[in-house]
Formats: sequence, structure tokens, C-alpha cells
Amino acid sequence: MSTSRVIISAVLLLSSIATTSAFNITRILEKYPEFTQFNTLLTNTKVADQVNSRKSITVLALNNDRVGEIAGKQEDALKRILSTHIILDYFDVLKLNKLKDTKTLLTTLYQASGTADDQQGFLNVVHQTGGSIVFGSAMKGAPVDAKLEASVLSQPYNVSVLSISKPILAPGIDGALRPASAPPPKAVTAPTPSTTASPPPAASPESDMIADAPAPATESPTSTPPSEAPAPADATPADVTPPPSAAVKQVVSGVSLGLVVALASFL
Ligand SMILES: *[C@@H]1O[C@H](CO)[C@@H](O)[C@H](O)[C@H]1NC(C)=O
Ligand SMILES: *[C@@H]1O[C@H](CO)[C@@H](O)[C@H](O)[C@H]1NC(C)=O
Repeated sequence: MSTSRVIISAVLLLSSIATTSAFNITRILEKYPEFTQFNTLLTNTKVADQVNSRKSITVLALNNDRVGEIAGKQEDALKRILSTHIILDYFDVLKLNKLKDTKTLLTTLYQASGTADDQQGFLNVVHQTGGSIVFGSAMKGAPVDAKLEASVLSQPYNVSVLSISKPILAPGIDGALRPASAPPPKAVTAPTPSTTASPPPAASPESDMIADAPAPATESPTSTPPSEAPAPADATPADVTPPPSAAVKQVVSGVSLGLVVALASFL
């Protein structure tokens, strides 16, 4: 799924690079006075330039009565919103009606910007049971209720302009309400040190052993170095001290000797 998206994006990108404009969306929309405001927004945000750089495109257009809800947005938000009204493929009504699935994912110009979060750059187009076709953001939980009303113009297979009943607003796209991904998990209580209290770093005992190995010291409990052992005397430590592996030697000869002695005397 995502691989095919990447491939599709790459193909679209490559195809857009070496293109001279096949059309001028500004000039196209100028012929339709009911889209004057939408046209102005496309021009002001420079989305029109990006549209013109494409070969196959569908513009979901809002007439002057419907553009108000987005016209007041900050310019960068407005640009993102307008970009989600541009589908990176040619769809006229005929082609939309031929879509086999009742719900189809469409890639928009906003996805091509690389800054879309999550599914913000995608639209769903849905065939409703009554026969109408609706568009909406592919973001989870977003409404899919912008109804296809009419084909304004189509130049197969380059550019199609479709009139829709309301703006499509992906959750979080205007920067006001972020999707619920932001807050970090609360449970940052420090991991109990007791569980992570690790034995001393593995390297040190060995290097110590090389450095100050009092060598044969612990071959038998009785031959422990006299330096700090006030006579382990009784023979019982035998069952307390583990077999004298190399690692253990160091421990036994070191600090824990006192503990061994203490244990021995306790037993
Ligand atoms: C569509 O674009 C192609 C390539 O850019 C061009 O040759 C063709 O004339 C265009 N078709 C229309 C109807 O504008
Ligand atoms: C598109 O058309 C508009 C209006 O006619 C014009 O101002 C603009 O320069 C044109 N853009 C290109 C790339 O030709």
C-alpha cells in the first residue's frame, strides 16, 4: 500500500518536472464567475502554479457562496486546505462513476508537499447508496460529506474541475486543532532503580584481575590472603562460596569476603 503510494508519488513528481503547462487553471476558472473567489485564493497562495505544473489533475472547486469558511484562514493554512482540494489525477464524472470500489483513496497536492500529517494528504471518495458521490478527508473520523454537484469543465485527461458542496477540512490542517497524536504518554515515573540495579560493569572485574590478581588466593578457602581476612577459620564456607570460577574469585577475594565470613559465622 504505502510502497505503491511512494511509487505513484515518484512517478507524479518525475512527470511534473519535465512539463510545460498543458493548461492554465487561472485562465480556465476566469470563465466561470461563480468561482472568482476560489480562483483568487488559488492565485494568491500560488497553488495555481503547482496545479499548472501537473499534467493530470482534478480541482474540487468551491463557488463564491461556499468559499467563505476557508477564505479567512491564515495563508499557510489556506494553502494546505486548497492543496487538499487538488487531486493528483484526472477524474471526471464518468471516471468517478466507473470506480469499482464504493470507497477509493485519492492522493492530493498537499500529500505531494511532504508536510502532511498522517492521512491529511489523502481524500476518500465514496459512492453513496442513493447514487451521489461524496468527498472527505481520509483522516480517521473525518466527515466525508462534500458532495459532488457538477462538472464545471473537463479536458481529458489533463484537467477536470468539479464543483463540490462544501470545503474539505482535514482534522488539524488549519493548525488550530492538532490530531490527538501530540501529547506524550504520561507514565514517566522513573523506572524503579531496584530492577535495573545492575552488577558492576563486566569489564572492570577482569581488568582488576589482571591488575592486582592476588593469584592463587581462593583455590581453597583456607588459603585466602591474610591481608584482610581475620581467619575464616572454620571450614564451613565451603558450601557458601560458589565454585571458584574466574569471575567469582575476584568477588570473593574482594569486598564480599567479609560477607562470606559474616554468613559463615551466622551459620
Ligand atoms: C493534455 O496534455 C498533453 C501533454 O501535456 C497535451 O499534449 C494535450 O494537448 C493536452 N490535452 C488537452 C485537451 O489540453
Ligand atoms: C495564467 O493565466 C493568467 C490569467 O490569464 C495569467 O495572468 C498568468 O500569467 C498565466 N500563467 C501562465 C503560467 O501562463
